[in-house]
Amino acid sequence: ESGKLWGGRFVGAVDPIMEKFNSSITYDQHLWEVDVQGSKAYSRGLQKAGILTKTEMDQILQGLDKVAEEWAQGTFKLSPNDEDIHTANERRLKELIGETAGKLHTGRSRNDQVVTDLRLWMRQNCSTLSALLRELIRTMVDRAEAERDILFPGYTHLQRAQPIRWSHWILSHAVALTRDSERLLEVQKRINVLPLGSGAIAGNPLGVDRELLRAELNFGAITLNSMDATSERDFVAEFLFWASLCMTHLSRMAEDLILYGTKEFNLVQLSDAYSTGSSLMPQKKNPDSLELIRSKAGRVFGRCAGLLMTLKGLPSTYNKDLQEDKEAVFEVSNTMSAVIQVATGVISTLQIHHENMARALSPDMLATDLAYYLVRKGMPFRQAHEASGKAVFMAETKGVALNQLSLQELQTISPLFSGDVSHVWDYGHSVEQYAALGGTARSSVDWQIGQVRALLGAQ
Ligand code: ARG
Repeated sequence: ESGKLWGGRFVGAVDPIMEKFNSSITYDQHLWEVDVQGSKAYSRGLQKAGILTKTEMDQILQGLDKVAEEWAQGTFKLSPNDEDIHTANERRLKELIGETAGKLHTGRSRNDQVVTDLRLWMRQNCSTLSALLRELIRTMVDRAEAERDILFPGYTHLQRAQPIRWSHWILSHAVALTRDSERLLEVQKRINVLPLGSGAIAGNPLGVDRELLRAELNFGAITLNSMDATSERDFVAEFLFWASLCMTHLSRMAEDLILYGTKEFNLVQLSDAYSTGSSLMPQKKNPDSLELIRSKAGRVFGRCAGLLMTLKGLPSTYNKDLQEDKEAVFEVSNTMSAVIQVATGVISTLQIHHENMARALSPDMLATDLAYYLVRKGMPFRQAHEASGKAVFMAETKGVALNQLSLQELQTISPLFSGDVSHVWDYGHSVEQYAALGGTARSSVDWQIGQVRALLGAQ
C-alpha cells in the first residue's frame, strides 16, 4: 500500500524528489477552510442523491467540522503523504470517523474540488480587496475635497504645462482606481460560478443536484460544461490582469509622488511612517514605500504573464500544470492587499508644501490662456496660438517673464490686446476657465468628487 489516496494501481515507491516536486500542500493549505466548506456541501449533495444515509452524512459533517477546528486552532498535523489540501483533509477525516470518510469523494474528483476551492477563496478575497481599494479611493477623494483650491503645476512630458488644482491631480488617479474597483466586481461575478459536480472531466454520474450545491455554497451560477469547468482558469487570468492594471495605476501615482517629493520639485513630503533612511548618508529620507509600490507592479505583471504562458496550448482538460495557478493567486492577492493599504497610508499622511506649489507656477504656463484671450476677442485659434507663441519668444529674448511684457509690446503682436489682458496672469482666474465637466475648475472638481462618491456608493 502506497499510503496514497490514489495508490491502488501503483506498486513502486515515488522518488522523494518527485514527492516534493509534486506536492502543493505548503501553499494550498491556505484553502483549508473552503475545502471543508466544499466537502460539506458535497456530502449534502450525496445524501440527497441517496449515496449517503442521513447518519453517514452527519458523521461526515461532524468529522469535517473537527478537521476545520484543528486547522483553525493550529493543531492539524500534516503527514508526509499529504500531497495537497484535499488529500490531507480526507486523510484526517478518515482518521477521525473511519471508513465512512471513503464515501465522501464518490463522483467527485480533485479536478472539480480544487477549482471549487479556488473560486470560493478568490470570491472572498475579492471582497476583501474591494473593500481596501474603496477605502483608498475614499481617502483620496476626502483629501481632494479638503484641499480642492490648492493650485500647482500640471505637467505633460514632465514639462510645465498648465496650472491645475492639486485636487484635480488626486482625482485623476482616483477615477482610474474607481474603474479598477468596478472591474474587480465584474471579475468577481465570473469567479462566483460553481464547478463542483463536474467530476474529473465527464460530469457526475450519480445524480448529484448541482443546484443544491450552488445554493449550499452560495454561488451565483453553475458552470455549463464539465470539461470547461475542471480545466478553465480564465477567471484566474482575469484576476491577475485586474491586479496588473490596478498596479499600473498605483505605480504611476507612486512615480508622480516620488518626483514631487524630490528637493528639485519639493511639492510634497512623505511622512516618516512611510519612509526609510540610509545606512550611510545621514541626511537621506527615502520614499521606499512608493518605490516598492512601483516595483511590485513588475512582480504582478510577471505572475499574469506566467499564468497565461502556463495556460497557452494546454491540451484538454485538467493537467497538473494547473496546480501552478494557486501560488500566482496567493502571491498577487497578498501583494495587492499590502500595496493598497500602504498607498492609503501614504496618501492620508502626505504633507504638501503649499508655498512651493504656489511658487512653482510660472507665467509661461499661461501662454495657452493668452491664446484663449485672443480667441475670445474673435481671433481664430491657430492665429491666436501663433500670436501667443510670439509673445513667449519676445519675453524669452528680452529675458523677462511672459507677464512682464507691456501692453504696448503685446500690441505689436496683435492689436486685439488691451488692458483686460492683466486678468490672464491670475492663476486662480486661469483654472476657473476650465469649467466644462472634467476640467480643473472648482465646479468641475466638485462634480468629480460627487461622481466618484456616487460610483463607490453604487458598487
Ligand atoms: N493539487 C492539485 C491542483 O492544485 C489538485 C488537483 C489534482 N488533480 C489531479 N488529477 N492530479 O491542481
